[in-house]
Amino acid sequence: MTGISGAAKLAGVIGWPIKHSLSPALHGYWLQSLNIDGAYVPLAVEPANLEVAVRTLPNLGFAGANVTVPHKEAVRAFIDHETETTTRIGAVNTLICNEDGTITGDNTDAFGFISHLYDAAPSWSPLLGTAVVLGAGGAARAVIDALQQAGVSQILVTNRTQEKAQALADHFGVGVHVVPWPERSDALNDAMLLVNTTTLGMTGKPSLDITLNGLASDAVVYDIVYAPLLTDLLKAAAERGLTTVDGLGMLLHQARPGFAAWFGTLPEVTGALREHVLEVLRSRG
Ligand code: ATR
Repeated sequence: MTGISGAAKLAGVIGWPIKHSLSPALHGYWLQSLNIDGAYVPLAVEPANLEVAVRTLPNLGFAGANVTVPHKEAVRAFIDHETETTTRIGAVNTLICNEDGTITGDNTDAFGFISHLYDAAPSWSPLLGTAVVLGAGGAARAVIDALQQAGVSQILVTNRTQEKAQALADHFGVGVHVVPWPERSDALNDAMLLVNTTTLGMTGKPSLDITLNGLASDAVVYDIVYAPLLTDLLKAAAERGLTTVDGLGMLLHQARPGFAAWFGTLPEVTGALREHVLEVLRSRG
């Protein structure tokens, strides 16, 4: 389709700042390749304007929107319904405008995380054993929820600020335990999955200091950082012959349910989509 018609369906991504978001490129690729009459636009919304912006979406005829940093938690105050996943995670990344003018908040980060894990590491199963999660921010909440819902019976959380890890363990309850940050390498003994949700290893951030010796030889290492795509953690894991999972797939998969709700088709994550988004990342240097 060249351009859009007057009947085009509309969605976007609300954040502040928003210009670095990859979501417009991602959804734009799907809209074009699926030949859908729709548009997905960046919406730069300052925190002070969040309520008005969100409440205006149905009035402008938007089908919905994604929500990103720094609004994922604050936006809960301005919606009418939220899914059980949203309540468990405590954050919204997807808004759906309903026919009656109300707005539902969903969280698809957990879906994105686990979908990409099953895709990229088909040998992994939740029943194989312990998972270790590094970090205790918003991303860690989505990851722990996904692992718990998938049926992982033991999840160890370790974070520089231990109280935050403890708060997560208290929130998610049975099967989630805290390991002190200085003992993070020891926590890997016999673990089948290691997930980095910290910002360590990201371009411009300090590197992640951890020894992978304790991991089982068939363990999986998942780094949700995607800039760079191949982090030092993933390099070290690959050198040991472990299965590695990078962070880009989580971003691509989390976008699928929103696209389906707004535009009526559940899109696929393909090699061509990944290449397209990687090209956008590369063009930024
Ligand atoms: P997100 O919502 O994306 O998870 P975040 O809430 O900023 O982002 O969380 C970043 C994570 O990286 C936190 O777990 C943070 O640890 P603290 O809770 O102690 O702040 C972790 N992190 C950031 N810089 C770190 C560093 N230099 N050393 C160890 N952990 C770090």
